[in-house]
Amino acid sequence: MLEESVGVQVSVVVPTFDEAANVAELLRRVDAAVGGPRTEVVVVDDSTDDTADIARRTAGSLRSEVVVIHRAEPEGGLSGAVVAGLRAARGAQCAVLDGDLQHPPEDLPRLLAALDGVDVAVASRYAPGGAAVGLSGWLRHGVSRTTTLVTKAMFPTRLHTCSDPMTGFFALDLGRVDLAELRPKGFKILLEVLVRRRRRIREVPFAFGARTGGSSKASVRQGLWFLWQLADLRFGRMSGFALIGALGAVANVALVSVMVALGMAFLPAAVIAAEVTMVVNFLLQERFVFGDLIPGAESTRRRFLRSFGFNNAESALRISLAWWLVSRGVLHSAIATALTLALAFVARFVFHALVVYRPREDARTTVGSPSPGS
Ligand code: GDD
Ligand code: MN
Repeated sequence: MLEESVGVQVSVVVPTFDEAANVAELLRRVDAAVGGPRTEVVVVDDSTDDTADIARRTAGSLRSEVVVIHRAEPEGGLSGAVVAGLRAARGAQCAVLDGDLQHPPEDLPRLLAALDGVDVAVASRYAPGGAAVGLSGWLRHGVSRTTTLVTKAMFPTRLHTCSDPMTGFFALDLGRVDLAELRPKGFKILLEVLVRRRRRIREVPFAFGARTGGSSKASVRQGLWFLWQLADLRFGRMSGFALIGALGAVANVALVSVMVALGMAFLPAAVIAAEVTMVVNFLLQERFVFGDLIPGAESTRRRFLRSFGFNNAESALRISLAWWLVSRGVLHSAIATALTLALAFVARFVFHALVVYRPREDARTTVGSPSPGS
């Protein structure tokens, strides 16, 4: 009824991926719990099934307005979907819950009430009175408990008042949480919200239910994304760079041993392994570490040539320096190797961040930031 339309105050964001079995019941229960003319439900759907159609059809019989965003090109996985929903939300108070009914919609009023005077309200499985019965099997229980502990240990201050930073059931005040600061990745958006800045948090316990329809999208792949997200949030770009460098070093050693075992002489084997590692590291770096800088940077060919050139020069210099230090008796070989590797790591990171992925001249002027040193 248009003449009655009043400003939306509460937005309920629901990410869905193939939830055809659940979305209708979910919408009805959300509407029964917090529905009304001042409430909207934003469904952000990345499905390949007819979840979006079912949601649109169900919407007609509800008191709340339902906005269905079907993303043809899903970006950022579950976290990206949640942030897209929050960006589209018109209410200042936003609640987020899963679309598979594992988060009981009946808890929404308590959750939204808890938002009073704080930045984020968290529905926690691990607060006194909460439960995680819906986690299937001891393995997922163990993984959930352990990752929660490790995560809290990595951010002891920011997560001090949160017992369940990995929950997907929470509410936040958009007047107090700046979405522009988020770089959504993987499955755990609340974690990012809580660690980017110090937040005032209030928890409400809830019982995580069992999934009855459809299937979970949690996977080993999501788990790896999660580790990546943690490292990135804690140490920024450099940790990704270090991780790839370390993997490259291990691969290098493995390649040399294989080639030598196959009868190749050591020197050519070492050279081939080093060059292969440099190329693979470059590709991984492009994908995982500096991806966000690529649009404004020089062409791929130039980036590759600079990276490859630097790494070759760097390894030649590093090996000669280590050799010199050892042969002169300045340092023990293990110490010389470790020291030169550490120096090279820092040099490589600085060179890549400041030179290989440096903004192009035209990209610099469009963003309006003066080039450094000029
Ligand atoms: N739009 C969108 N895009 N939705 C997604 C995507 C995606 O790529 N992946 C998953 N979803 C939706 C699912 O449809 C569901 O509504 C919700 O996100 C959670 O996904 P599940 O596949 O049910 O994951 P889960 O039950 O294993 O994980 C849940 O438990 C965690 C706590 O252990 C999620 O709620 C997490 O948010 C929660 O932290
Ligand atoms: Mn689920």
